[in-house]
Amino acid sequence: MGEIFYPKKELFPYAKFKSMGDYWELVERFKRDYEGTWEAFAREKIDWFQLFDYPLDKSNAPFYKWFVNGKLNVTYQCIDRHLKDKKNKVAILWEGDNGEKRAITYLELYREVSRFANMLKDLGVKKGDRVVIYMPMIPEAVFAMLAVARIGAVHSVVFGGFSAEALKDRILDAQAKIVITADGAYRKGRPYMLKPVVDEALKGVDIVEKVVVVERNGEDICWVKGRDISYNELISNYPDTSQPEVMDSEDPLFLLYTSGSTGKPKGVQHSQAGYILWAQLTMEWVFDIQPNDTFWCTADIGWITGHTYIVYGPLASGATTLMFEGVLTYPDPGRGWRMVEEYQVNQFYTAPTAIRLLHKLGPDEPDKYDLSSLRILGTVGEPIDPPAWKWYYQKVGRGRCSIVDTWWQTETGGHMISPLPAATPVKPGSATFPLPGIFAEIVNENGEKAPVGEKGLLVIKKPWPSMIRTIWGDPDRFIQSYFSRVKIDGKPVYFSGDGAIYDEDGYIWITGRVDDVINVSGHRLGTAEIEAVIKKHPAVAEVAVVGRPDEIKGESIFAYIVLKGEDTIGEEMELVQEINQIITKEIGAIAKVDNFAFVPGLPKTRSGKIMRRILRAIAKGEEIKQDTSTLENPQIVEAIIQIVQKGS
Ligand code: WTA
Repeated sequence: MGEIFYPKKELFPYAKFKSMGDYWELVERFKRDYEGTWEAFAREKIDWFQLFDYPLDKSNAPFYKWFVNGKLNVTYQCIDRHLKDKKNKVAILWEGDNGEKRAITYLELYREVSRFANMLKDLGVKKGDRVVIYMPMIPEAVFAMLAVARIGAVHSVVFGGFSAEALKDRILDAQAKIVITADGAYRKGRPYMLKPVVDEALKGVDIVEKVVVVERNGEDICWVKGRDISYNELISNYPDTSQPEVMDSEDPLFLLYTSGSTGKPKGVQHSQAGYILWAQLTMEWVFDIQPNDTFWCTADIGWITGHTYIVYGPLASGATTLMFEGVLTYPDPGRGWRMVEEYQVNQFYTAPTAIRLLHKLGPDEPDKYDLSSLRILGTVGEPIDPPAWKWYYQKVGRGRCSIVDTWWQTETGGHMISPLPAATPVKPGSATFPLPGIFAEIVNENGEKAPVGEKGLLVIKKPWPSMIRTIWGDPDRFIQSYFSRVKIDGKPVYFSGDGAIYDEDGYIWITGRVDDVINVSGHRLGTAEIEAVIKKHPAVAEVAVVGRPDEIKGESIFAYIVLKGEDTIGEEMELVQEINQIITKEIGAIAKVDNFAFVPGLPKTRSGKIMRRILRAIAKGEEIKQDTSTLENPQIVEAIIQIVQKGS
């Protein structure tokens, strides 16, 4: 399948993997001595307060424990240890939506995080307590995450685009004691607000004792007496030195909620040592991070990509991480490229949806800027289509840079399948091969390796250090979601929820989710979650939500709706608006439905199960290959097709 592009090796004189030979050598070493090899990396890379006893405890699988009895603090790994030789190196470069700039050195980061940690302690936050962070993309969001980690508490960052209801659910599920937020921030030249959302979310919630508010845009907000605290007013009262809490390798580090195929979002829990080790190693292996590099990941800190590749990975590596409050297309589609030129960015990491949008809005914009500092271009979040890949490669990378198409998930903590920039010959659209130490395989339902060209299930056969430890408060759902569908030799293995194909050269091609999760602009959304919200509209009798391919977003949301009574016929336009208002209120604008079809019924099996496969095919405009005669209501299929065709 497809064209092959070879790395320009001269760009990577210090790369860890200089050839596929280097890659296979480490893969083989992991095969020969799995635990010993991980042990060697953990010893070498982590500044332990106390070395671990042994690398892996499998006794309570799938609740694996890594680097047993090791003691460390991830903020020591990200900050303190760099004070020896890079105290005045810039840790965080920040640019605001309006072009405002800040540069924070490692020493300043130490002081900011120390003050914030001291403040949180003073507010009564203790080791193991959960702190929800609902913040814009400002450096204080990073200070907050690291301050929480420093005192041994557990952060749960909630993406600023989520609604009050979604925030409330997460606060309650995590049983958070403190919320850290901001008045608001700026987007496309205008202020937007976060604090009012927190106020709404906390109505009727009595577990949250304090809300710390960073004043970023200075807009009017309401202050609840006794509960709300101004960060700006109080922070300078706190000492700028601190001791990191001594943490066990397996103490929880953070929760991050993500959508599953059923029910409410799940709190993916990560731990200390394994997570930070892999964050750091993948920065070296996949991004070839070098001492003088400036690394730019455009994700939001509310997603795992922001956690691992804006905050923990770059800082653990002692790199300079660029953080951006605004959007790449404002005030014009050259904004991002101008920033690459200005900061001399070496690695640029973004999502295919952003690449497609930048390509569409400014196909020749990259030509206007000096992008010669770039060595590596990364993508994450969804499969990248070859046209977008080629534009990225030719226009942005000028045919020199390596593109790393990184496949991974909230649950995996860091990259799992990715090219190595100086070694892997790449095929546009393929994430290529598993990283050394990661035993990813495509298998069929019986756990047998899938033959070339046949779509199978993507699994990880061995535990790895940065893997999800559990779903917060719901260990049964953890097992059910990840360790129940696929067994190899009778033993459950981690199932990713993604489908994939091997080509004749063994390259892995991710085909997307095989469960009822859709991927809109690289954001995971559960169809069940959206359906549950749509059902709240009084006129809706039944609903089925599916994904439909979208030129820019990857997938868009398509809802089939059966109305309760005839009296709403003719009022569909209003209904569409009302339903999207409910979605915006309950989940957030990212889950808004793009296409509606008001249909007389949904195709169901005789046992009443909705046949989503048929609905997906209709949404895509594909022919229905499946036998529909066994449906309870076969005639409905034709009726739905007619309605959808008329509507589009
Ligand atoms: C998808 C984001 C194809 C996949 C880090 C996965 C990808 C989900 C890729 C995880 C890629 C991520 N190629 N698909 N390079 N990277 N995905 O948890 O479906 O937000 O299961 O983590 O995104 O999304 P999540």
